[in-house]
Amino acid sequence: MTGRPLAVVHCGQLVTLAGPKRARVGPELRELAIVEDGALLARDGRIEAVGPRRDVETLIPDGAEVIDAGGRVVLPGFVDAHTHLVFAGNRADEFAMRAEGATYEEIAAAGGGIRSTVRKTRAASEDELFEAAMRHAQWFLRNGTTTIEAKSGYGLTLDDELKLLRVIRRVDRESPLRCVPTFLGAHEVPDEFRGRKKEYIDLVVHEMLPAVAREKLAAYCDAFCEPAVFTVEETREIFARAREMGFGLRLHADQLGASHGAELAAEMGAATADHLEHTQSEGIEAMKRARTQPVLLPGSVYALGSTRYPDARAMIAAGLGIVLATDFNPGSSPTPSMPTILSIACTHMKVAPSEAITAATINAAYSLGRGGGIGSLEVGKSASFAIHDCGDYRELAYLFGIEHAWLVASGGVVVFRRAFDFSK
Ligand code: NIG
Ligand code: FE
Repeated sequence: MTGRPLAVVHCGQLVTLAGPKRARVGPELRELAIVEDGALLARDGRIEAVGPRRDVETLIPDGAEVIDAGGRVVLPGFVDAHTHLVFAGNRADEFAMRAEGATYEEIAAAGGGIRSTVRKTRAASEDELFEAAMRHAQWFLRNGTTTIEAKSGYGLTLDDELKLLRVIRRVDRESPLRCVPTFLGAHEVPDEFRGRKKEYIDLVVHEMLPAVAREKLAAYCDAFCEPAVFTVEETREIFARAREMGFGLRLHADQLGASHGAELAAEMGAATADHLEHTQSEGIEAMKRARTQPVLLPGSVYALGSTRYPDARAMIAAGLGIVLATDFNPGSSPTPSMPTILSIACTHMKVAPSEAITAATINAAYSLGRGGGIGSLEVGKSASFAIHDCGDYRELAYLFGIEHAWLVASGGVVVFRRAFDFSK
């Protein structure tokens, strides 16, 4: 891609996250490598120079597009390492039922939950789903997120799963939001396979996985490992096959109960184990040994009205490269906002704002195998960043419920600007 060079000057805090070329652990999580009064120059979508304004300004060529950040905070684009981007409709009805006291599990057992979104998603065409997903993509971008991991999982037939993965590929190609695709055929046992779970697993293993691999539609395979959904043994079978076919692994583990999902993720060499609300010390130690990164999703704990947050402090103390993500989905976590996740993590999990920023950027990038290209503002990396309307990065987590992003660029191109016009 070529175009005008892009420069950003007068960054009050240029939060670069420069540092070791791996996920940050322990005290490193607090090291944001901030440049006060910084500037950045990008060309052909990549960062060409970044550092103190005096040093960078002299390099800005004539004809460059120059953005004055006005003393604001500049951050790498958030990397959201766990989302369910593509689905039809919403579950406002179930939200209202939960407000009256029904639980997520009760609603799911009665045929609602994931299965209700599956019914709506199957009924939608690929174009309708693409339109819905592009709307969601805009929500991510306007909150300062420039890369997401995106799962299938609301199709649960061969054709419908492929339909969702093709939509993810189209969003990646046709929007400024970069998408890393994950196949989640083992998200739930669909209605027509109730009581015949083994047959559904056979379908996932023998038909869906090979087709997804053939069409190169996913980088990762995921499963919802929960006693009432897919057990540890069932998940192991699916993951063993997926691994043979070259998929990376990410796992929904220990969300609703302690089922040793974290240990399974570690045993299978998964890149990540996600959720982990009920993970105990054995799971943490197993992840440490296997270098499996925990992806913590406090938005789903909050939105389900639970207070059982994952034990982020124990994971940090154990030396794990923690990641924070939204789990954006229509049921348990209907938010695309990474700043909202930072707020919940700091308030309820006692994660420091600096640790939360690292977990939402560079560590998330490494969890997706993309740490070399995104997640920090360093020379040679993608010029994907957000200018947030505050002067101190801690405000991103502190001031909650507002949209912080003031300008967002993806791959060196400005894709979102927030502006009021009070002139009339
Ligand atoms: O990550 N736990 C399973 N999957 C989602 C929920 C999806 C839904 O409720 O539609 C999650 O929380
Ligand atoms: Fe999820």
